[in-house]
Amino acid sequence: MACFFRRNIASKLSNALGQSEETFISSLFAIPVSKKQQSSDFRLSVNSLLQNGSFSSADDTQTQTEALVQRLKPDNVVEEISVGCGVINFKISRTVLAEKILEKIHNDGHLFGVRSELFSSLQKGRTLVEFSSPNIAKKFHAGHLRSTIIGNFIANLKEAVGNDVIRMNYLGDWGMQFGLLGVGFQRFGSLEKLKVNPLQHLFDVYVWVNKEAESNECIWLAAREFFRQLEQGEAQALSLWQHFREISVEEYQRVYKRLGVHFDEYSGESFHQSQAQGVLQQLQQRGLMKTTEKGTGVVDLSSAKNMSFYSTVMRSDGTSLYITRDIAAAIARKEKYAFDEMIYVTDKSQEGHFQQLFGILLAMGHEWTQSCRHVPFGLVQGMKTRQGEVVFLEDVLDEARTRMLRNMKESRTTKELEDPEDTAEKVGISALIVQDFKGPLVSDYKFNWDKVLQAQGDTGVFLQYTHARLCSLMRMHGGDAEAAFDPSLLQELGSIAMLKHLLRYDEVLHRSLQDLQPKHLVNFLMTLCHLIATAHRTLPVKGSPAAQARARLQLFRGACTVLANGMRILGITPVEMM
Ligand code: ARG
Repeated sequence: MACFFRRNIASKLSNALGQSEETFISSLFAIPVSKKQQSSDFRLSVNSLLQNGSFSSADDTQTQTEALVQRLKPDNVVEEISVGCGVINFKISRTVLAEKILEKIHNDGHLFGVRSELFSSLQKGRTLVEFSSPNIAKKFHAGHLRSTIIGNFIANLKEAVGNDVIRMNYLGDWGMQFGLLGVGFQRFGSLEKLKVNPLQHLFDVYVWVNKEAESNECIWLAAREFFRQLEQGEAQALSLWQHFREISVEEYQRVYKRLGVHFDEYSGESFHQSQAQGVLQQLQQRGLMKTTEKGTGVVDLSSAKNMSFYSTVMRSDGTSLYITRDIAAAIARKEKYAFDEMIYVTDKSQEGHFQQLFGILLAMGHEWTQSCRHVPFGLVQGMKTRQGEVVFLEDVLDEARTRMLRNMKESRTTKELEDPEDTAEKVGISALIVQDFKGPLVSDYKFNWDKVLQAQGDTGVFLQYTHARLCSLMRMHGGDAEAAFDPSLLQELGSIAMLKHLLRYDEVLHRSLQDLQPKHLVNFLMTLCHLIATAHRTLPVKGSPAAQARARLQLFRGACTVLANGMRILGITPVEMM
């Protein structure tokens, strides 16, 4: 696979130029498949040779390039080496290309592409990803759904390349809303309803009490009193809060499971309530916090120290705020998990919040903040279900399943499935994920069920359909994954295009690891599916001579493995039939 070929080319370059192979490995790029047929597979830019000192900038680069290419001797792996426009091109022997990639995919299975040398320079070790983080009793809006699937993707990707990943959910489980909720529940709640549909009931109580509080001052007073009791740790109030939290987490877990998402820890703002007071003390002692005329505590984060950029960390009554709890939480996590990097996934409206958070942590002397990162994403407009506006995550999943089931029933190609609901669920979820991951995360987008669930076009349904079709091909013809095949029979344009594309898999993962954007992987998989669709037409298995059929099956099998691997990293469970 790519590594093997990169190694070979890098070793030639190393011999000719006297630098280590590593110098060249990450500058060698597999060339994307294009309509114009290309005669080379890897390229190295002449610029990279100037940058790493292999070429001297004082001499004519064209002459140096030509002289270098003269010295690089082709062999039976790299057949042709030629000078291109600002690049050096390398062409791999077609037979070796087929043999090596398919052998590697077969041997590595789900590890194919993720142990690449390209990743050696990236941050390894322990990664803490904080994502989803809904607020108890409030709406689980489209933003929380985005955070959930994006965070899951980042965690999967990091895990795939060998990082030790902690998945953390940071619940909104503290604050005045619990004062209101407590009072609301005392007046309006029912333990019975809470048991039957906890999230719905808590939400109803919360909506009711907020409405009531608008016209009834007593509710506010009672809520403040209830929250005070919570903050003082009074047993009765605390036990009700605890109950709300527990049943909510149980419900979330059930729904996350449908999405294929799990968490190592359900932390929350409540855990850092007491530590937040410690943070305020430290800020005071270090002279970082000033008290304003209104009595609030602020930290000046501007470089000119003129309060042009500051953060409020304490209310005038001495209580902490969202950011104060985040400071305490970050410090506690570092102590507990000793992470090497931490990633927060929220919508872009919180960019300023994280800028302040990181600024304060650094000012407090926590150098590890340098390895913390906020991944922002844009808004989803118009995500509605038949019931109307989305209130619960589960409604979105149900809607996706119902609609998908209907589409599948209408489609003539749908097979007799053992559990059509389960298939519809998996395909529906992949459609949501792909729609969300296609563009840059930070862009807003308009949500449209019909577009999302289309079978044609670049959708999650198309990915699933392609995967299922490959599985069916294998069921019909390809019992034996170990069967030997002749790679020289994979020389048609369609085969070569697919093989060349598979060469790029590790590069694409590398890009996603750098900017944490799933679009590179999504686009790669879409192109792979289009190449597979063409190959289904032009490279038939059925009716071909036995040796050729065997070789083609191995090619399809390899493509299927890479497709499934990539889908899993995105957070999609590939279906074998649909
Ligand atoms: N619960 C918050 C919300 O729904 C998101 C929490 C994000 N994470 C954090 N560490 N502040 O807006």
